[in-house]
Amino acid sequence: MVAIPKSPALAALLLTALASQTGAEGADAARWTPKKPIMLRQSGGFTIGGKVVPHPLNPNMTLSCDHGYVEYFTPWRPRRTSIVMWHSSSTQTFQNRWDGGEGFKDKFLRREYPVYLWDGPRVGRANWACNATYYVPDYRDQGNFVAWNFGPAFKEWWPDVQFPTESEYAWQQATSSRYVEYDSEASVNLETDAAAIAADSGKLGKSIVYLTNSASGLRAQLTAVKSNTTNIKGIVCYESYGYVFPDNAGIAPGAGLNPFGPILVPVEEFKKLAKVPAIQFLWGDHRDDSFVFLNQSRQAAALINQYGGNAEVIMLGRDKGLKGTTHIAFADLHNEKVAHLLDEFLSENKLDRYH
Ligand SMILES: *[C@@H]1O[C@H](CO)[C@@H](O)[C@H](O)[C@H]1NC(C)=O
Ligand SMILES: *[C@@H]1O[C@H](CO)[C@@H](O)[C@H](O)[C@H]1NC(C)=O
Ligand SMILES: *[C@@H]1O[C@H](CO)[C@@H](O)[C@H](O)[C@H]1NC(C)=O
Ligand SMILES: *[C@@H]1O[C@H](CO)[C@@H](O)[C@H](O)[C@H]1NC(C)=O
Repeated sequence: MVAIPKSPALAALLLTALASQTGAEGADAARWTPKKPIMLRQSGGFTIGGKVVPHPLNPNMTLSCDHGYVEYFTPWRPRRTSIVMWHSSSTQTFQNRWDGGEGFKDKFLRREYPVYLWDGPRVGRANWACNATYYVPDYRDQGNFVAWNFGPAFKEWWPDVQFPTESEYAWQQATSSRYVEYDSEASVNLETDAAAIAADSGKLGKSIVYLTNSASGLRAQLTAVKSNTTNIKGIVCYESYGYVFPDNAGIAPGAGLNPFGPILVPVEEFKKLAKVPAIQFLWGDHRDDSFVFLNQSRQAAALINQYGGNAEVIMLGRDKGLKGTTHIAFADLHNEKVAHLLDEFLSENKLDRYH
């Protein structure tokens, strides 16, 4: 159920699948011609959550801030379950494949799922903050390459990597289309307070599946803990950096500002994760078992299942034969295969039904 006014103009919007730019070296590959249009009933956006703070010296003046921002797309004939795409620092990863081809946003609209793009408070289009915020330039391109598991060192591509390695343009697109991520436990709490309000509001639908990547995996888990409804039906985490744990499992919280967990919650609250009908922690290829977040995903899944939940850890390379999958599987060249696995997840959990 999407909170959409009954518009008189129900003319379907046709979203043509255009590649973005065509610069001189614009290798935006996939100027394919889709077989069918994407038929939308509506698209739009809104803010949700946040607060209104008075001016410290003049209470007549206020600032409305720290809300999240949602952009929504409703298919002409929508399925019941909404896919809420929660990136850690760029919706772009859901909008296009690395080579400019079709991203999960269009793939799942084509499959007639309502799609929501979520920017948590202070991130992306929700950057109207209550606090002063800073962007500190850092020289991160080389670090991005390794963090996203394109290869073991900068420009040493894994031979089977699902990235158009010959395209400097694609690499520039990948590394530049970022927002500030705000990694701290305080920020995770701020973002998940708003996300839980959004989930419980019904404005994202009454059957929500989060699609997350990296640091947003931690955020979706904590959102499920904070939510008071049963609207959250699934959490799919591609390479989650960070996990929520119960405070009785002998696990220490993350150090310092605690950017990537563990975040500990009372065991009674943790059990809410066991009530989410289905949770998947998926990993790209070339991940060693000793990788700390992979290890934590196994511990978290075991604990969720111990309390009666349904969580699994899937190695996309080893278990599913998707060799060369990166940190951001849904933007990889073989993302149609990744989408098929998500189709299976949705159908096995009866989340593919129509109204
Ligand atoms: C706030 O508004 C009230 C009512 O209009 C007014 O009396 C008061 O002077 C205003 N305060 C400031 C600091 O402007
Ligand atoms: C906002 O600023 C206040 C006061 O400096 C601080 O206590 C709080 O942690 C900040 N919140 C976030 C989410 O950064
Ligand atoms: C859930 O309920 C608790 C207890 O009443 C409340 O503190 C919290 O704000 C609620 N969460 C949301 C997202 O409304
Ligand atoms: C996680 O790593 C620790 C060693 O650091 C190991 O003892 C434990 O078995 C691992 N847990 C899982 C679930 O892989």
